[in-house]
Amino acid sequence: MSRTFGSEAVARFTVHLASGGSYPVAVGRGASLEAPDHAVSLKISRCVVVTDSNVETLHAEAVRDRIAERGLETHIIAFPAGETNKTRAVKEAVEDRMVALGCGRDTAVVALGGGVTGDLAGFVAATYMRGIPCIQMPTSLLAMADASIGGKVGVDHPSGKNLIGAFHPPAAVLTDPSFLHTLPLPEFRIGLAEIVKSAVVGDAGLFEELEARAAALAEGDVAAVEAPLSRAIAVKVVVVSEDEKESDLRKVLNFGHTVGHALERISGYAISHGAAVSIGMVAEAAMSADLGILDEPSVRRLATLLSALGLPVALPRDADPVRVLAGAATDKKARGGRLEFALPRSIGEMARTDRGFGVPVPDDVAISCLDRMREAP
Ligand SMILES: NC(=O)c1ccc[n+]([C@@H]2O[C@H](COP(=O)([O-])OP(=O)(O)OC[C@H]3O[C@@H](n4cnc5c(N)ncnc54)[C@H](O)[C@@H]3O)[C@@H](O)[C@H]2O)c1
Ligand SMILES: [Zn+2]
Repeated sequence: MSRTFGSEAVARFTVHLASGGSYPVAVGRGASLEAPDHAVSLKISRCVVVTDSNVETLHAEAVRDRIAERGLETHIIAFPAGETNKTRAVKEAVEDRMVALGCGRDTAVVALGGGVTGDLAGFVAATYMRGIPCIQMPTSLLAMADASIGGKVGVDHPSGKNLIGAFHPPAAVLTDPSFLHTLPLPEFRIGLAEIVKSAVVGDAGLFEELEARAAALAEGDVAAVEAPLSRAIAVKVVVVSEDEKESDLRKVLNFGHTVGHALERISGYAISHGAAVSIGMVAEAAMSADLGILDEPSVRRLATLLSALGLPVALPRDADPVRVLAGAATDKKARGGRLEFALPRSIGEMARTDRGFGVPVPDDVAISCLDRMREAP
């Protein structure tokens, strides 16, 4: 699974697609140095490094220069950082710039940045000239652990997140933790929440590793996150590798996100994604325990780990449980009047019924769990 690149170990994974195709995911310090090799192997003559305004100043020139050294015409196209710019208008601006540069089907997109960049640049690649290759080079911990893998790309619409998009599997994902040295601590913690999610979803050993390293991780220690990140990626790779028999397996990735998304929305996005997912994971684990699926000590263990990582585990006082649940219902299909959740049956394994990975939870159970988690007045 791993080989040595220079003096650093780079772990290698493969995502398998239902079409029979596949793409590689390289994870480790030095993985970004492989971008020129991948670009050359695509038999293209140009690259556009699409990035946001923060990552542009920090990392884009080095990436561009390394690719350009191999004889490919390489340009940087930067857009203003932030989720508010993951829009059709910004996609259009990037496309206009590519047209002005004369980019044709001989071009590949390198998506260098966080999840916003990966989603936006990946969507540009999905539709430009009916689809050109995209190399994902995530630079935030969330994008490394989650957004860069799986091929979902898109932009937001004023009425909802990710409403306009496509499925465009990358040509390769190059995940280099060296980029994390410049990532602000709050962003680092958002990524930790996703790594905890992966542990609960599919790797009990990873959960133990996170517990053992919690103090260092809470401080944003890049060296401490490398091994857990690689394990979290392994979980996501297995889940998104298409398997006809497991077509709803992707639902497990929603763990913590049904409540989490609702919290983000009703707070007007004042609560960060990582904080919302952290609270959401505890809430959904508690629902699982109330339904007799998960044992109580596991709920407490999850809350203890998230707190140790600097993530919140209590529902903000002003978040009314009934409103949170109503918020969750707006973007989820309810079955038989009950909301469905991806629920853990133990740490490292998700519950599965004869109908798949969505478990219906009665409203009164969900509300009672949220109510018990409210911050003390
Ligand atoms: N496609 C998917 O499957 C998927 C999955 C999960 C999330 N997402 C999407 O991902 C997005 C969130 O991603 P995100 O949290 O990375 O947000 P983001 O891309 O906005 O990055 C967060 C912030 O960190 C900065 N940043 C990124 N890397 C940096 C670095 N190395 N050094 C300094 N600053 C850096 C960015 O400029 C930004 O200000 C959302 O739009 C979400 O919908 C997509
Ligand atoms: Zn998430």
